[in-house]
Amino acid sequence: MCGIVGYMGHQNSNQILLDGLKDLEYRGYDSAGIALLEDGKINVFKAVGKIKNLEDKINNSTFDTKNSTFSIGIGHTRWATHGKPTELNAHPHSGAYSYVVHNGIIENYKEIKAELETHGHKFVSQTDTEVIVHLFEFYFNQIKDAAKAFKQTIQRLEGAYSILLITKSEPNKIFFMKHGSPLAVAYGNNTGEILFASSDSPLIGLASNVVYLEDGVYGIASTNGLIFSQDVKWDILPNSKQFAQKDGFRFFMEKEIYEQQDVVTDSMLGRIADKQINFDELDDTLMDGINEIRICACGTSYHAGLTASYLFERLSKIRCSIEIASEFRYKDPLLTKDTLFIVISQSGETADTLEALKMAKNAGLKTIVVCNVDNSSMTRIAHSTILTRAGIEKGVASTKAFSTQTVVLWMMALYFAKIRKTITDDKLQEEIRILREVPNSLKVENEVHEKCRRLSKRYLHGHGFFFIGRDVFFPLALEGALKLKEISYLHAEGYPAGEMKHGPIALADPELFTIALMPQHLHYEKIKSNVEELSARDSTICAISPLRFDLADDFINTKKTDHYMLEFFEMLVVLQLLSMEISVRLGNDVDMPRNLAKSVTVE
Ligand code: AGP
Repeated sequence: MCGIVGYMGHQNSNQILLDGLKDLEYRGYDSAGIALLEDGKINVFKAVGKIKNLEDKINNSTFDTKNSTFSIGIGHTRWATHGKPTELNAHPHSGAYSYVVHNGIIENYKEIKAELETHGHKFVSQTDTEVIVHLFEFYFNQIKDAAKAFKQTIQRLEGAYSILLITKSEPNKIFFMKHGSPLAVAYGNNTGEILFASSDSPLIGLASNVVYLEDGVYGIASTNGLIFSQDVKWDILPNSKQFAQKDGFRFFMEKEIYEQQDVVTDSMLGRIADKQINFDELDDTLMDGINEIRICACGTSYHAGLTASYLFERLSKIRCSIEIASEFRYKDPLLTKDTLFIVISQSGETADTLEALKMAKNAGLKTIVVCNVDNSSMTRIAHSTILTRAGIEKGVASTKAFSTQTVVLWMMALYFAKIRKTITDDKLQEEIRILREVPNSLKVENEVHEKCRRLSKRYLHGHGFFFIGRDVFFPLALEGALKLKEISYLHAEGYPAGEMKHGPIALADPELFTIALMPQHLHYEKIKSNVEELSARDSTICAISPLRFDLADDFINTKKTDHYMLEFFEMLVVLQLLSMEISVRLGNDVDMPRNLAKSVTVE
């Protein structure tokens, strides 16, 4: 999830681009850059870290467009998906005479890169983006027509991408394309101005009407105005930047719940084909000599790890244990070199998890980190890093990190299963078919959100909540309980449904709220009898299920699907929405709940 900006006009373009990138910093900021073209001369500036570092670099340079008559420029703020956050990997990427910024993932970049290298193109970065500008120049060198070369370029690309490209070969134009990643374009308030941005926030105050480009639309911005490949719809820009950064949602957490459908798609891009799972970051020898997997994490990441432990044993047929990092690091753990050690962390900075990783690495174990932030402490220590590609997660209560972690770990379980020959090709193909359905299961249905909003007024008090589930729905119950605790400050426990009768059922009364996860495709009759036991003792039951359950006091009906993991992700969204709506009713700060930090970098 990156941010891109573009400008042409008579104003101070580098300041306009920098201000735009600052507005987009919520989309990613591990590195940034701009390319400015005026009077046929290109100036490129790049910096790692916050936009301020880029601004300092420009201000300390001799370059200045204040007195320019006309300039064009493109800018980019990066959230790494391929290649470490370095200046070399920062956008804009260049060829001999052209520059490109890109948001998204080019799935077929490796084959394009290999093809261009046979034609003498040299690549300097680890990114997928760099192939765009070289492919453009490959075509332009043949046909000497920038518009046609750009069209041929975008026709070759597969994946999700929004692109801005400028070239000395036709210096007063910006070529643009939108496919899968957002891109907006507007005429500026000053004559002859045209502006681009990944979201409308940077355009507010500089323009009044905007086109939110649809997938497949491309075109050219020039001193003659905008040319689009097809008819477009003009909208009025919102008047609040803060509102815009949340893309119209009330909270970043809400936005991030709604983003899950897209970011989970990104986490799978380039990793699943119809009959195979592929991780560029891992090699086939990884499992040589490995007889056990040990997972270590905290909080929500721990819940993703616990979910994965079921999948690793069920699919990869390998022993798998899961540890809470703050316990693991002090328990004098027995570490053997036949163990693959996997840590999971959204931030890559959680102190306890980081220490556990160091312990495992020092003990000579192979280590993998499943992480959302490249160049974080854990990615610099682990032997391999698998990025979850969820984009920046600003809500303290983790949502899209959990869903992308779980999908990545599920794919890893299938990848290991293939290497260990514990899965047939048919079964693998079936699992991949189901994986491809996950984004649809994460889609937030209006009626479900509305139901959670209505129900939330009922669950504001009581002396506590039990979230219960079986198998992978037990870690999901833990996650649901954590979400509620974090942002509503009400007490909640996740519990294995079959364990209630070993004590906790003594708490059952009308004031005890039980949120029951009742999937159709995994032990339904078992969970049903557990819930009936609670209902018989007057516990107030909220059942979440695709199957009608008449004993429930409240019932959230999820879609009928053909696999328990699709039910898993659909119920995840319900749990996230329900906790958020309860928090809203209680008047809490949904995005920054009391006592919590987004990343716990201390013990
Ligand atoms: C989850 O909603 C919490 N914010 C918290 O439990 C979090 O998952 C935990 O601190 C681990 O953070 P990490 O994934 O960045 O390591």
